[in-house]
Amino acid sequence: MKKIILALDIYDSQKAEKLVKDTNPYIDIYKVGPILFLQAGKEIIKMIKDNKKEVFLDLKFHDIPATVKRSVESARDLGVFSLTVHFIGGEEMLRSAASVENRPKIWAVTVLTSQIATPEEVIRRAILSKICEIDGVVSSPLEAALIKKECGKDFDVVTPGIRPVKVNDDQKRVTTPEIAVENGADFIVVGRPILEAENPAEAAKNIYERIAIK
Ligand code: C5P
Repeated sequence: MKKIILALDIYDSQKAEKLVKDTNPYIDIYKVGPILFLQAGKEIIKMIKDNKKEVFLDLKFHDIPATVKRSVESARDLGVFSLTVHFIGGEEMLRSAASVENRPKIWAVTVLTSQIATPEEVIRRAILSKICEIDGVVSSPLEAALIKKECGKDFDVVTPGIRPVKVNDDQKRVTTPEIAVENGADFIVVGRPILEAENPAEAAKNIYERIAIK
C-alpha cells in the first residue's frame, strides 16, 4: 500500500471527490475526519470506496468503553480500513475497542502533534496501546523510530505533522516526508501541504516521488 494518506480536511464533498480522482495514482488511503464526515457522512465513505480506495476514519473516539465499542462496530459496518481512538481514554476503553470482531485497524492517538510531549511519554503510551491489542499509533514522525524499536515492526506507526517545506502553523512536532519514512513511519498523513497547494495532484506526486526513492 502507498504510504501517503491524504487528510480530506475540507467541507465540500464535490471538492473531495475531485481530490480523490486527481491524486489517485499516488494515494490509496484517504482520511475522513469530523470536518467532512459531519457534512457528508456515509456518502463520502461510499464515494471513496467506489473509487477503489480505502478510508481512514479519524474521529478520535474518546468515551466510555461501551460507547467506544459500539462506535467501532458502526465504523466496521461502514467498511472503513482504519479508525482512531484517543489513548487518554484509558486501558479499558482501548481493550473494549479492540475486542470488536472483524474490526478495522485501530490506531491510538498518543499525543496530538500540535502539542508538546516528551519522547518517553509517547513511547510509554505506544507500548500500553500495544498491550491493549491496538494495531498501531498516530504520533509525531520524530518518535517513529523509537516506537518501532520498542513495539516491533508489525505495530503501525502513522505520522501526521509532515511538512515538505518549513512553515509556521499549529503543528509543533514536524518533519519532512523523507525523514518520517526513514524513521520508520508506515504511513504519513498529509493535509494542508497538498490541500492548499496550487496544484494538489502535483504536490501529492512530488511527495510520492520524494519518498519512493527512500
Ligand atoms: O494539514 P496537516 O498536514 O497538518 O493535517 C494533519 C492531519 O492529521 C489533520 O487532519 C489532523 O487532524 C491529523 N492529526 C494530527 N495529529 C494527530 C492526529 C491526527 O495532526 N496526533
